[in-house]
Amino acid sequence: MTDNNTELPQYPEPFWRSTLSFPSFPKVESDIQTDVLVVGGGITGITSAYLLAKQGVQVTLIEASEILNGTTGHTTAKITAQHGLIYDKLITEHGEEKAKLYYEANKEGMNIIKGLIDEHSIECNLSTQDAYVYANTDEYVNKIRKELRAYHKLEIPGDYTDNIPFSIPCKAAIIMKDQAQFHPLKYLMALTSPILESGGKIYEHTTAMKIEDGAKPTILTEDGHKITCNHVIVASHFPFNDEMGLYFARVHVKRSYVLGVKTKEEYPGGMFYSADTPSRSLRYTENDDGEKLILVGGEGHKTGQGISTIKHYEALQDFSSHYFDVEDIPYRWSAQDIMTPDDLPFVGPSTPNHPRVLIATGYAKWGMTNGTIAAKILTDRILQKDNQFTDLYDPARLDGIKNMVKDNTDVAKHMIQGKLSILHKKPEDIGIDEGAIVKVNGDKAGCYRDKEGQLFIVDSTCTHMGCEVAWNSGDRTWDCPCHGSRFSITGDVIEGPAVEPLKKIR
Ligand code: FES
Repeated sequence: MTDNNTELPQYPEPFWRSTLSFPSFPKVESDIQTDVLVVGGGITGITSAYLLAKQGVQVTLIEASEILNGTTGHTTAKITAQHGLIYDKLITEHGEEKAKLYYEANKEGMNIIKGLIDEHSIECNLSTQDAYVYANTDEYVNKIRKELRAYHKLEIPGDYTDNIPFSIPCKAAIIMKDQAQFHPLKYLMALTSPILESGGKIYEHTTAMKIEDGAKPTILTEDGHKITCNHVIVASHFPFNDEMGLYFARVHVKRSYVLGVKTKEEYPGGMFYSADTPSRSLRYTENDDGEKLILVGGEGHKTGQGISTIKHYEALQDFSSHYFDVEDIPYRWSAQDIMTPDDLPFVGPSTPNHPRVLIATGYAKWGMTNGTIAAKILTDRILQKDNQFTDLYDPARLDGIKNMVKDNTDVAKHMIQGKLSILHKKPEDIGIDEGAIVKVNGDKAGCYRDKEGQLFIVDSTCTHMGCEVAWNSGDRTWDCPCHGSRFSITGDVIEGPAVEPLKKIR
């Protein structure tokens, strides 16, 4: 531990949401017919709804909670085609042509964002920044060199340096110039007005539970309403209709952490990502008074499988205090990312048998550009326009069998471990602001006692496929180690694939 004397905020809250007020949208209260239904109010959902509404398509967007409150509201919002050390890997896994196409896709995602900001004069703190990926260990210095060779092969502009403008140790780095950063929620909030002005509809607090795919897809909501459409875009981060493509067995979910840090020294500019482990990410943002805040990110791990999660925030706090003169840490938050087995997102029909049910997921940590290009690919498909990136991102490229075996082994391990672990704790043993799995009437239950002493007890069996959830002390949530579902202390779903809440226990 370092000698830092700054406290972490007691509760997680992303900087992006704290600085804006949001309009609220109604719930779906009756059956609806629409041309396209978009499920999910993050960057993919809102961009898709915008692109369709502008083309005169009747579009309806529904969100289970409030728009921009999921992964998009918890991002670090780097708009870049530099995604860590990816291009050498993509050449090995997919060949040069596809690796180059991935770069082009993300560059186009960036250009779409910049174009829309320009077209609508959106004030969202857009600024051009150079992106750096850097390393300090010999192993990763070699990887940086290989990555630079990949840039040269693919004709991606990149400069080599052995210096970054911090005291953070660095032996090698690649700079991708003229990338960008912004305030993602100011940008996306501004896109909701043109959606509504073009006749689109937005609903909140409307959870999609199931898709019945016949002549037309029909989406059933939690309240029993039916939404019938010609196409549905599932932009719910983890596809809520995962049974259609067995996505629960084809992807895995990672959690990472961010601190918003005020420092005495000036931030030199630039967006940084360390290739070594544990990874670290840096960029700055500013509040409405022009005060700068450094966003320090990293500490990724599989959801529900980390050490006590508050330790991840503490590791970032130590890092910040070690390399910066920290004045205050006003924000902390965490984000969930979905990883595919071959490092390319899944964007396209859920399965070839369901061509009208379109999904977009698996952006790893790079959702700003990937989420935007995903919206373009899906809306071009609906508008029957060609898109050069369709095949690259098509979920049908993988049959999932290889990954399914690996992932199911992991899932089976957690299912068995969770069910067999012996418990000694009872609800009365749980202290203030503590959460743990306890024994209630002979069964396992998740128990949390809040600051006022009130107990919240839920069935600890995940409603997705039955794994045991684990307590996340950093965010005060119940997280599932199998496919990453997350639940509040009262059992409500925060993130899928689960759609049903954990049962409350009296
Ligand atoms: Fe699949 Fe919990 S998320 S079992």
